[in-house]
Amino acid sequence: MPGTLTFRQDYFGDPVAFRGLVALLQDIFGIDIGLQNRLGGPDPSSMPFGYFDDPDRCVANFSAFSMPLVIGGRTVKAAGYQSGAVRPDFRGQGLYRDLMRRAFSWADAAGFEAGILLTDKPDLYARYGFHVVPQFQFCGKVPTSDIARTDARELDLTRPEDLALVQRILCERQPVSNLFAVARQSEMFLLNACFDPGIRLSFLPALNAVIAWKMTDDNTLQLLDIGARHIPPLAEITTALGLPAKEVAVLFPPDRLNWKGEPQIYEGSCALMIKGFELSTLPRPVMLSPMAEF
Ligand SMILES: CC(C)(COP(=O)(O)OP(=O)(O)OC[C@H]1O[C@@H](n2cnc3c(N)ncnc32)[C@H](O)[C@@H]1OP(=O)(O)O)[C@@H](O)C(=O)NCCC(=O)NCCS
Repeated sequence: MPGTLTFRQDYFGDPVAFRGLVALLQDIFGIDIGLQNRLGGPDPSSMPFGYFDDPDRCVANFSAFSMPLVIGGRTVKAAGYQSGAVRPDFRGQGLYRDLMRRAFSWADAAGFEAGILLTDKPDLYARYGFHVVPQFQFCGKVPTSDIARTDARELDLTRPEDLALVQRILCERQPVSNLFAVARQSEMFLLNACFDPGIRLSFLPALNAVIAWKMTDDNTLQLLDIGARHIPPLAEITTALGLPAKEVAVLFPPDRLNWKGEPQIYEGSCALMIKGFELSTLPRPVMLSPMAEF
């Protein structure tokens, strides 16, 4: 391991070092996590592990954070892992292996019972006990409802009042599924909404719910997530949204929606991996809402 590197852990309190990580992820993945500074800041539970060759230049990083999940009706104390990257000049020297081991040991010592991550390189993590969980979306007809159509208002996270509304609702939310969902976490929802301009956020005042959705070219309504104190039936959501959809695809288990869809394998760019959880007891089929992706 190069002797000139400085190892740093839990360094988000240092804005210079945080900027170093922002630059690393911008260079490697082309994403700007610096956007979080105007969305309420990074997840306060984040525990980054990194190597720096200058105070402001992060050359390798791997972060853990608290991501409590609801799995089969039980709250599971899970650690999420994200922001894994090494600058090209520093690869192949064991930096990432070192950071993964540090992060997994830290999570074990902190009492996390499970780990979760998304990756396009599952082999990297299989040796640390992570297993791929196949993901399914749920497709079916747009349900109808007798309730009168209510107004939906499109939200814009660059407007402070809309941002505050979404943050408040996410804070009070019921997990979107009782089978498999993130229990609490708003930072990734907000960041994902900013990263993908195709994601629309609608506020349904009558249901006091924020709906994250997309419309595909063939008029399928993709329901990505629901922020609400009580998850409403799908029929009330589609009626309130009032969109001319032919079909609906729900991108999380629809057990709270009073609606059934046909499970179809979901081919995302990344595999969902879990460790520390007996896979045979995992409800199937499941999917992690794209708004909880990290
Ligand atoms: C993947 C990446 C983080 C590896 O970093 P690195 O410092 O070169 O990795 P290390 O030298 O510490 O190697 C760690 C282990 O991973 C393995 N490995 C390295 N690159 C790999 C890859 N692309 N796929 C699978 N395994 C890989 C190594 O063989 C090594 O295995 P070992 O512990 O059994 O010897 C780095 O190539 C990178 O930043 N890539 C682009 C971003 C990325 O893919 N990040 C991971 C996203 S989940």
